[in-house]
Amino acid sequence: MKKITTLRQAAITSVAHYLPEEVLPNSFFSSYLDTSDEWIKTRTGINTRRILRKGGSSDLALPAVKRLLEKRGITANDIDIIIFCTVTPDMFFPSTACVLQDKIGAKNAWGFDLSGACSGFLFGLETGRRFIEAGGAEKVLVIGADKMSSIIDYNDRNTCPLFGDGGGAVLLEPIEESEYGILDSILHIDGSGGEHLHMKAGGSLNPTTHETVDKKWHYVYQEGKTVFKSAVVGMADVSAEIVEKNHLTSDDIAYLVPHQANLRIIDATRERMGIPPEKVMINIDKYGNTTAATIPICLSEWHEAGKIAKGDYLVLASFGAGYTWGSILIRWAY
Ligand code: UT7
Repeated sequence: MKKITTLRQAAITSVAHYLPEEVLPNSFFSSYLDTSDEWIKTRTGINTRRILRKGGSSDLALPAVKRLLEKRGITANDIDIIIFCTVTPDMFFPSTACVLQDKIGAKNAWGFDLSGACSGFLFGLETGRRFIEAGGAEKVLVIGADKMSSIIDYNDRNTCPLFGDGGGAVLLEPIEESEYGILDSILHIDGSGGEHLHMKAGGSLNPTTHETVDKKWHYVYQEGKTVFKSAVVGMADVSAEIVEKNHLTSDDIAYLVPHQANLRIIDATRERMGIPPEKVMINIDKYGNTTAATIPICLSEWHEAGKIAKGDYLVLASFGAGYTWGSILIRWAY
């Protein structure tokens, strides 16, 4: 690889996504739990979500990455780094980046998994961007993929209707025109929020035992209302802040690309930014919360529909377990 020492601009040059075929409608949950289509729709904005029965998160990423390479007209051997953002890795180790590297045959790549929950994709984008800017890589694959159905208790009505499975991927490359690409980021973590949204067991603190399984400690635990309150403030604040910091106004923003956890959180962020509903990417109605995958899936769907143009300013924003949250400002480059 050519060694470049000057700082250069990183941009998304290809994007793709994959959703498993099986659709789980709200009526599935109301058929056996004390819930209703009406409750789920009005409290979350979700109508359906997709479920992967066989395979792991690498299988959600694989079709997306194949499509991304095809769109860009390159092969897997051209990839330098794979950053796999997920909280549902195929297994603890080897990393899902390694699993995917083997599946696509990216012989010249190295890579790693990144655990940032719902903000994972933004953290991955920032990491990939810095490798490109510093001259450490020419082509970085940033993937957000989560098989949430693997860590959901389908008897807990507080969490099971919220999540779905999916994967999205972007390619980062250096570009000549410095006014395009990834322009800025504001990222945060606050571990004191961890108690409100986590998975208790399976790690080194609480290794898997019969007891941890009996206690259902291998499922997502969420205090919905508490997380909701922090998410509304956190996501709205960083979204407004990045626009102001870059001397832009809401009129300059083509799209807000929010993490899809709850339509009411998205609406609060949009209102705080003062932008109209048509400038917000929303697909939570179809796919629910796919954790690290929501933002790249949105980007891919809107790009495929021809709704993103070169020069468009996009604000990507997220809030999730950790707590983790942030925003990234992009000027679309192709
Ligand atoms: O992506 C990671 C970050 N996560 C988030 O951003 C999620 C943030 N939180 C939320 O999206 C919302 O808090 C939820 C959708 C999880 C819950 O909505 P809520 O309006 O905050 O409801 P709640 O938790 O305050 O519950 C209200 C009531 C409760 O009943 P009581 O105690 O008032 O009798 C719940 O037991 O709704 C009940 N409830 C349900 N009822 C029917 C909770 N889940 C359900 C359900 N169906 N599925």
